[in-house]
Amino acid sequence: MVTLLIDDKKIDVKEGTNLLRACLENDIYIPNLCYIKGMQNPPASCRLCFVEIEGEDHPIASCTVRVRDDMLVHTDTPRVRRLQKTALQLLLSVHDVDCKNCPANRKCGLQDMARFLKTALKSNRFDLFLKKNQVDQSHPFLDYYPNRCVLCGRCVYVCRDQQKLTELTFAQRGFNTVIGFFGNSQTIPPSCDRCRACAEVCPVAALLPKREI
Ligand code: SF4
Ligand code: SF4
Ligand code: FES
Repeated sequence: MVTLLIDDKKIDVKEGTNLLRACLENDIYIPNLCYIKGMQNPPASCRLCFVEIEGEDHPIASCTVRVRDDMLVHTDTPRVRRLQKTALQLLLSVHDVDCKNCPANRKCGLQDMARFLKTALKSNRFDLFLKKNQVDQSHPFLDYYPNRCVLCGRCVYVCRDQQKLTELTFAQRGFNTVIGFFGNSQTIPPSCDRCRACAEVCPVAALLPKREI
């Protein structure tokens, strides 16, 4: 075990744990979207989980750091909050905010982050870029909405690491990056229809089982 001080709270954590997990499991909240409970190596894609660590020049994504003895961590500084708000606004700059018509309304990761950071879902700080394709219906059991997807990677993770399947992947590059489906109606395993793990972990209703729509 190692002992660290987070916002003046002393916690004991198993050596090797990532700092975000250590905080969340000790009731110290840090905004996050790409982390799933218990995940040891999050993809670090959302850039929301910044903290300041004494001895480091810049805030750092807490899910990328391993705890160490005597670490001094601050989760609520002006620099941290500024970076978290910027990260959220960047995610929202490629997101079609239409909460009234969205299945995620009131159980949405973006709404939770905006509420916690006391910031609006719509701002004009960054230009809005939306993809042309509103929905990908090529999968026999799932529909995918690119303009809701925050590319957190949770769906890819649960499919691969928990279900031991490789049905989902990141496809294309840069601004055009989307979640893509492997296979077609002939090759996709029937278990995919019953599984729904990817849709369940999606924080923004970007992946939905077809028959629920
Ligand atoms: S995913 Fe969340 S923020 Fe986006 S439209 Fe739906 S409810 Fe609103
Ligand atoms: S579909 Fe959902 S879970 Fe998958 S990357 Fe997009 S937002 Fe994340
Ligand atoms: S939780 Fe750390 S970058 Fe997403």
